[in-house]
Amino acid sequence: MKTLLIIGTGGTIAGAAPAATQTIGYRAGAVPVGELIDNVPGLRDVARIRATQPFSIGSEHMRSAHWLILAQLVRKAQSDPALDGVVITHGTDTMEETAFFLDLVSPRGKPVVMTGAMRPATAVSADGPANLLGACRIAADDGAAGRGVLVAFNDRVFAAATVGKVHTLRLDAFAARDAATVGEVADATVRWREPVQRTALRPQAFGALPLPEPVFEPQAEALPRVALMLQHVDCDETIVQWHQKRGARGIVIAGSGNGMLPDPMRAALARASRSGCLIVRASRVPSGPVVRNGEAEPADRDDALGLIASGFVAPLKARVLLQCCLLAGMGAAETQQQFDRFG
Ligand code: SIN
Repeated sequence: MKTLLIIGTGGTIAGAAPAATQTIGYRAGAVPVGELIDNVPGLRDVARIRATQPFSIGSEHMRSAHWLILAQLVRKAQSDPALDGVVITHGTDTMEETAFFLDLVSPRGKPVVMTGAMRPATAVSADGPANLLGACRIAADDGAAGRGVLVAFNDRVFAAATVGKVHTLRLDAFAARDAATVGEVADATVRWREPVQRTALRPQAFGALPLPEPVFEPQAEALPRVALMLQHVDCDETIVQWHQKRGARGIVIAGSGNGMLPDPMRAALARASRSGCLIVRASRVPSGPVVRNGEAEPADRDDALGLIASGFVAPLKARVLLQCCLLAGMGAAETQQQFDRFG
């Protein structure tokens, strides 16, 4: 039997409400991970379980310092011969960001599977126990190794690079951007739909990158500061300079269509790029790539302005990838290569 480490971090899966009929207005992260494990029938038939709970929070409170604590735990588990895999319970609201960060900075090898729930642990038909059981089945499956960080939810398995939360309340709250699921859990069996090579397409640029110590002081960020902006009609381009004054070393802008920008915004971002800030053009459209040099005029293109095109990387994940690139000391050209790895 395999041995799994379950890392509890809080979220709705560990949520408690005064009434079993209540599915909003509960306290996230109120139930300790040991109790979550004890509430899953048959879990100890799937694997030997060890557990730890470094913190217990609603995932809207997640900071890069929390990511660094998790990254240390995952890296330690990867090199611990007594462990075969890791399962992380996490709030659903920011799970896709944590999953992608851990995917980027963890060495590929043992399975790492994240899960959560849409209903608190105290609710009628709480989905947490089934999701946790599914995540452990996946982590204990022989076909799970080498796929990077996976998200298991509602019997489906997603890759960290493409998974996103797509519904605020429903139990099937997660979907894959521009991609099918990696696998499904059916009748206690994991059916892999994607070969390992497809899930883990990308060589690991950051798997051995030295990571900073977690810093929890107010206003302090443990990772390089990267702002995320949403382009909209009448968007104020002076916000670019404001972000730079606040210490942003990179900016991701979710432009319209193919990451398109009105002239004043493009000019403001080009100025920021010239001053050393890394600028990524992503898209506010939920699927499809952002292709480089999409402008008609050569002078407005990425090559001329030093901008980076996000390809298939969605804005939230583009911010995380850019943070890793900055941490690794990369410039615009090397950063573009990292984005290109995703297609
Ligand atoms: C959270 O993200 O911590 C709250 C919402 C959830 O887990 O579904």
